[in-house]
Amino acid sequence: MYYSDELVAQVRQSSDIVDVVGSYISLTKKGANYVGICPFHNDHSPSFSVSRSKQIYKCFACGEAGNVITFVMKYENITFVEAVKLLADRAGIKLPEVSVSAEEKRKSDKKLRLLEVNKEAATFFYRCLRSPHGERGMKYFKDRGLSDETINKFGLGFAGVNGREVVEVLRKKGFSDEEIRDSGIASVSEKNGLSSPFWNRVMYPIMDANHRVIGFGGRVLGDAKPKYLNSPETDIFDKRRNLYGFVFARNSRAGNLILCEGYMDVIAMHQAGFSQAVASLGTAFTQEQANLLSRYTKKVFLAYDSDGPGVKAALRAIDILKSADISGRVIDMRPAKDPDEFIKAYGSEAFQKRIDEAENSFYFLIRTIEGDYNQSDPEQRTQFYKAIAVKLCENFPEPLERENYLQAICERYGINTENMRNLVTEYASAKLAVPVYQKPKQTSQTKATQEDSGKIAESMLLTWLTDEPEMLPKIKKYISVQDFTDEIYRKVAERVFSDIENDCLDPPAVIDSFEEEEKNLVANIFQAKMPEITSEDERKRAFSDIIIRVKENSYNFFSENIGNDMSKMMDSIKLKKELESLKQKGVSLE
Ligand code: GTP
Ligand code: MN
Repeated sequence: MYYSDELVAQVRQSSDIVDVVGSYISLTKKGANYVGICPFHNDHSPSFSVSRSKQIYKCFACGEAGNVITFVMKYENITFVEAVKLLADRAGIKLPEVSVSAEEKRKSDKKLRLLEVNKEAATFFYRCLRSPHGERGMKYFKDRGLSDETINKFGLGFAGVNGREVVEVLRKKGFSDEEIRDSGIASVSEKNGLSSPFWNRVMYPIMDANHRVIGFGGRVLGDAKPKYLNSPETDIFDKRRNLYGFVFARNSRAGNLILCEGYMDVIAMHQAGFSQAVASLGTAFTQEQANLLSRYTKKVFLAYDSDGPGVKAALRAIDILKSADISGRVIDMRPAKDPDEFIKAYGSEAFQKRIDEAENSFYFLIRTIEGDYNQSDPEQRTQFYKAIAVKLCENFPEPLERENYLQAICERYGINTENMRNLVTEYASAKLAVPVYQKPKQTSQTKATQEDSGKIAESMLLTWLTDEPEMLPKIKKYISVQDFTDEIYRKVAERVFSDIENDCLDPPAVIDSFEEEEKNLVANIFQAKMPEITSEDERKRAFSDIIIRVKENSYNFFSENIGNDMSKMMDSIKLKKELESLKQKGVSLE
């Protein structure tokens, strides 16, 4: 959105929805609302309802809903900004002259410029490495066993003797100081003015999947600290979403990917023929990176350092991979420290063998915790077995899979399977002591309808609130924002609660605060079909009904998503108690 929120609000408030919609389709007054034939589907009876008080519309047949801006967008098939313009014209509001496409263009131009800065810097570093100034850098790479081909393929470079050189080069290429700074190549200091932190370092350009340089890693030649400097995040460098080496790995035909820790590891592996290797960018492996990998393959090997921090990082990465539906396998690097060392010492055939023998991540996990217990002490060994039982429960909710792992682990560690089963049952039933776990398993069908009915209740509550904001204190006695289980519903509730408290509730504004594709849903949330209420008794009953349904849905959702989180379990017990007391004592409208 390129007009300010205030301006958009002004346009919206000057465009009465009944007037605007009424200028496109014919509306007749019915009760508090106006109805007409829906223009968005082949409507035969008037299903389209417009609320003047709430300034929103909804078709009860096709579900199309929104505010005055979304109506014009959809009816005229134009963009948000065009709709704002059209409505501003209609209302006689003068909009500032900044053309939106110009603003958009400026942003994308900026990104292109930053990419160019990076490209020129990479070229400078590249040339520098191959010039007499770069001899030390070249020697460093050669000493680490890199071939010319590898050095070229990865576009490696050298940053020169001081941090001003690259800045001068970039200025000469016509980049402004602002652009140089925004690219992350240089920053301003009192002492040096605009200068780069990259100097006297070998340079690893970081490329996105399309071969564009988006940042750099720079390594000292010796043992000085910090060993690596990485470009800061910029408009074009998102460390969470890119991976070092991915540009090559995505074309590898290995059918798997190898995730490792260091730039040097990636380079060494590619040189040894493992072009499926990637690494995170000087930061911990992220969910976004896992999702990226999972679009290419479900077969991911971890080639992390064999030391303590490496093992810890591997365990974290395994969890992250798991939530992207990838069960990683761990390559044993011992006695080498990392893949680079391993390949240097034992060669690529040996490495391939280690890949083939890579350990299932659960075995890896158990082997890792094994070291925490002194196995010659019977007491500690018992503790170890108990820990295994816990991990079995945590990792395999599916009984059959759990049993398979149980047997395999018992065989490995010479544990009596019957004893282990008892431990598992003990642990599982300790959790079962909490009533929520006794809930019968639902079929997906009943679950779906249950979820739907929960959302309907949440929507009714929010509709009620937008009709009668003064109900908020009464509702808050029973329902908090956290009770809304769906993320969008929760966001809407949060906004509506706080807007009412600040006396500025404006449903069309709430709708516009959401992404384009969410607006329809949000507008619908405000216009649930409400029960017919003709007496105070019915009103009480409806209120109580909706409150209990929302609470129940909250509890169901919560208790199903506890996992092994103790505090969530406690919360769930609390919710259960609240719910039971609501059902017993009833909900009061006073
Ligand atoms: P070499 O020592 O050259 O073999 O480096 P490496 O690539 O094997 O790196 P290492 O295993 O020591 O570290 C893994 C990764 O962590 C590196 O590739 C960097 O991305 C990052 N890293 C290491 N040291 C630092 C540091 O001092 N600062 C920052 N920001 N990142 C670092
Ligand atoms: Mn290394």
